[in-house]
Amino acid sequence: GRAEHVELARIADLIIVVPATANSLARLACGFADDMVSLTVLASDAPVVVAPAMHSNMWLAPATQANVRTLRERGVHVIDPTSGALGSGDSGIGRLPEPEEIARAALEVLSAREQASHLLSGRTVVVTAGGTREPIDPVRFLGNRSSGRQGLAIASAAARAGASVRVIAANVESALLAALPSHVQVTRVGSALQMREATIAQTADADALVMTAAVADFRPESSYQLKMKKDPTNEDAPTIRLVRNPDILAEIGHSEARPPLVVGFAAETGTDEEILAYGADKAARKGADFICLNRVGENVGFGDVPNDIRLLDASGHIAARYVGSKDEVAAGLVGHMASFLDNLKR
Ligand code: CTP
Repeated sequence: GRAEHVELARIADLIIVVPATANSLARLACGFADDMVSLTVLASDAPVVVAPAMHSNMWLAPATQANVRTLRERGVHVIDPTSGALGSGDSGIGRLPEPEEIARAALEVLSAREQASHLLSGRTVVVTAGGTREPIDPVRFLGNRSSGRQGLAIASAAARAGASVRVIAANVESALLAALPSHVQVTRVGSALQMREATIAQTADADALVMTAAVADFRPESSYQLKMKKDPTNEDAPTIRLVRNPDILAEIGHSEARPPLVVGFAAETGTDEEILAYGADKAARKGADFICLNRVGENVGFGDVPNDIRLLDASGHIAARYVGSKDEVAAGLVGHMASFLDNLKR
């Protein structure tokens, strides 16, 4: 039979860890799996509410605060402890909130999830993710570093919101695709031309297209049938001629048969003013209803650090801003997509 913790993890609609000690926060933040609590939390996709209780000094310790930040970035709901008399006889911050308070927070999480689960029901959403590879020869390509994580977070959030979701994945790691909800339909592609074909086909009857994929703007003019060999008698380097790839977003954004909602992504560097101007220009040029403007470089946009996304509408105005984990940003975007679609004339 199934291990007990897996069974619990599977049937839980919500997990509440109460009281959570400094030790349990550290263990959850690190992803330990060597006792019932850590194992169950790790194995479950249910929302998690954590109610810490400990001495003030332990709560305020940088290590604990960093663990709390990590957990919150991953979408765990950490309830702030209250101030008052502590177990040690001291008084200060670190007291467990009243049970009613914990129950209220837990119910809020459940009802938010329940409401979110209908936001996109009956809708079909196409999400492109990853980065295209443009073949040079059978073993070489021009590529980029896009992992596809943001796109998959959006696909998962849309699926949780009840949409029927199709992902067009360019060179996304199989393990990431395997973590998608099972009813998400995945089409794997390699190059920009393949992505174009799949995206046009899949959006024909869709309500929304979200283009998170990093599509190469150029491809080698011709790709060799056979592996390119270097000439041992000659030090010359070959020249690879590039040609423009079609702009998939612009093509669909401007087409008559476009889905009612088209969302593009733009990763920009520069001052606030500069990136807003680039984003506004992109929204207009591509015929997108929204551009998710992602500020990259320095501390945002890469790795495990918070993303900062502004949603620009077709006229370049900031319609919304989301700062947080990729999942939080995805949930915000999905909420915005749902209200946009609901406000269209049906
Ligand atoms: N896009 C596309 N087809 C392309 C290139 C980009 O559909 N051939 C889409 C991307 O999926 C993304 C948006 O267009 O949604 C990004 O626009 P792009 O003009 O490529 O912006 P950047 O790559 O950020 O670069 P640039 O500053 O060069 O315009």
